[in-house]
Amino acid sequence: MTHNLLVVDDEPKLCDLLSSALSQNGIQVFTASNGLHALKVLEQEDIDLVISDWRMPGMDGPQLLAEIKQRYPQLPVIVMTAYSTVKNAVQSMRNGAYDYIAKPFDIDELDITVSKALQFRDILKDNQRMRAELEEHQQIDSLVGDSPAFRQVLQAVDSVRESNATILLTGESGTGKEMVARAIHKHGNRADKPFVAVNCAAIPEGLLESEMFGHRKGAFTGAVADRVGRFQQADKGTLFLDEVGDMPLALQAKILRALQERVIEPVGDPRERKVDVRVIAATNKNLLEAVANKEFREDLYYRLNVFPIPLPALRERVEDIAPLARHFAHSLGATAGKRISGFSAKALQAMASYTWPGNIRELQNCVERATIVATGQVIEEKDLPGYLFDTQAQGAENSAAFSVGPQVPSDLEAALAEVEKAYILAALQQSNGVQAAAAQLIGISERSFWYRLKKLGIQVDKIVR
Ligand SMILES: Nc1ncnc2c1ncn2[C@@H]1O[C@H](COP(=O)(O)OP(=O)(O)OP(=O)(O)O)[C@@H](O)[C@H]1O
Ligand SMILES: [Mg+2]
Repeated sequence: MTHNLLVVDDEPKLCDLLSSALSQNGIQVFTASNGLHALKVLEQEDIDLVISDWRMPGMDGPQLLAEIKQRYPQLPVIVMTAYSTVKNAVQSMRNGAYDYIAKPFDIDELDITVSKALQFRDILKDNQRMRAELEEHQQIDSLVGDSPAFRQVLQAVDSVRESNATILLTGESGTGKEMVARAIHKHGNRADKPFVAVNCAAIPEGLLESEMFGHRKGAFTGAVADRVGRFQQADKGTLFLDEVGDMPLALQAKILRALQERVIEPVGDPRERKVDVRVIAATNKNLLEAVANKEFREDLYYRLNVFPIPLPALRERVEDIAPLARHFAHSLGATAGKRISGFSAKALQAMASYTWPGNIRELQNCVERATIVATGQVIEEKDLPGYLFDTQAQGAENSAAFSVGPQVPSDLEAALAEVEKAYILAALQQSNGVQAAAAQLIGISERSFWYRLKKLGIQVDKIVR
């Protein structure tokens, strides 16, 4: 790791001496001739450690120290002082200096003090990073929502999280099934063991068995080494069977056996292995209907349906739309480097009257787009995608969207054009209508930018006054 060090002294000779003594193995030294100059450098560079003289014309050592403690509380400062003023140095330690060195100093001693201070700085930085990560994770895990419909879900989660009961999460696409599954695991007895998710719809049928149970080397062409299956990976933890309704019938029989007898057999290996997994399954299909159509085994259905938790569609929890939208605006705005403080009343109203066929995921996408388009701190009606206001289209769209099966936008091209347009408009706003600058902002050539303007029917002079 490289470190940046700032030496502050009014004597250029001393600055030079320290620079050459310390500029080595990963340390870059900056210098400043007084306190004010030092503060400038601190604004421009990512400094890890300051070594400052005590007496300096203008802003002196103690003043600089006080200023640094206020602006950069995590930045260590080493104070240099002559023998006669060691008392001052002690005082400066009380005021928050990390250490002091007495002049004239021994270079070896200085080296030790500096490397200790840099280690200290690294630990502080690591802590900061870990705390930020932790907060981010807690946010991911925090289930937003306080509507009566969602409170029932939270109660169900609470009552079942510490047991080993099999859980079946049902609900339309984007209602938060995976998020709830992760929350159950995280707040259960198996939290420190693995959570392994398998998307049963995404794995080719021929590979599912080996994916689930593993295989022995040579069990089939392509099995070049032993492989541990998902059941074993999840041992002592939680196995999340996502889109369980899309599992082929042949595999359903084997999964049933694994769930009933708690043993699995890797492909090409007749020896059984014991496994201890808690299963959470999820589907957006109507499994009873699938059972009636002979697409899903009835016995497996009952095996999974021990503790069903139905997740409400977003339109059944309208009260949660505003808190969810705020939650997404804060987190997504922060990622985009924007500070969004909230939504205008009209924007909230528009979101509350839309029916959200894609549920929370659709709301999340909508807010993400709005944070990109918004020019102020408040998301306004005009920042929301047009289809929210298209009530006629909604009825038709919804009747299709509520049917069984995963949903995709009815017209992919139109959906993509919508996103493209949002990016281009945002870039034009930011560049005050200068097309070359806007093109650069979104990383495409001017030519391609111009082509897209034409294709999307955007008239620049109408956007920027
Ligand atoms: N209660 C909640 N609070 C905050 N964010 C949520 C909540 N529920 C879901 N989300 C977010 O909404 C998105 C969709 O959730 P998730 O992937 O869990 O849905 P799903 O039901 O598994 O969807 P699909 O059926 O399409 O797989 C995710 O980005 C998730 O983080
Ligand atoms: Mg999912």
